[in-house]
Amino acid sequence: MHLRLFTTARALARTLSVRIVRDLQANPRLVLGLPTGRTPIPLYEELVALHRRGKADFSDATTFNLDEFVGIAPGDPGSYLTFMRRRFFDQVNLSPWRHHLLNGMARNIERECARYERAIARAGGIDIQILGLGRNGHIGFNEPGDGLIARTHLAKLTLATRRANAPLFGRNVRKVPREALSVGIGTILEARRIVLIATGTSKARAVERMISGLVTPAVPASFLQLHPDVEIWLDVPAASRVRKPPTTARS
Ligand code: GLP
Repeated sequence: MHLRLFTTARALARTLSVRIVRDLQANPRLVLGLPTGRTPIPLYEELVALHRRGKADFSDATTFNLDEFVGIAPGDPGSYLTFMRRRFFDQVNLSPWRHHLLNGMARNIERECARYERAIARAGGIDIQILGLGRNGHIGFNEPGDGLIARTHLAKLTLATRRANAPLFGRNVRKVPREALSVGIGTILEARRIVLIATGTSKARAVERMISGLVTPAVPASFLQLHPDVEIWLDVPAASRVRKPPTTARS
């Protein structure tokens, strides 16, 4: 795992946006795996700013989001689709049929999960998977447990994760769905490159366990240790428990 340390979350987002745009220039048909959550918001802001300055063209790019709540209509303010539309899709020139999200209202969940796996495969697989990190070490909605599910599946959300997502539902944890659809850990590990971003002290413990601990389903992000091309991008607070943090903070 290659660690990169940044003085601020904004500096991290700016550098990552430039990296993504460079990759996009090299390959306009780039396939991106995208996260939701608080952490990637500055990244989406920076990508939108680059697009507005004429520096980022998403017209031939394809995106796949990691996860979506079950039982929440696509237009609901709490859905990840709404989040993505507001923060990114509606602000750039990504074509609507090239951004993909799981449908949490699908009648046949199994079929929906299989459809998503097939769509990723048809797009040629994910070139760069951007990930956030749950405080409990989850990635996507792959929650800690006795075992992990390799492929896209129905996931039961822990109370901790529902609490973390409460801001999307008027801070009312009872309104946060108990289930979600998520790509599996195997799907994530098939991406050609992975960049996990984590910012703030609240992620420090999960970062430590992901990097320095055992590969264990108790810390789903620890499975990233098995991937040959993973970068972990941290701000200083998130790196505070890393035993040997990289010495040069970058901006
Ligand atoms: C959510 C999402 C994850 C995200 C994580 C961290 O539950 N399903 O994909 O990475 O929580 O969110 P945040 O960035 O808000 O801390």
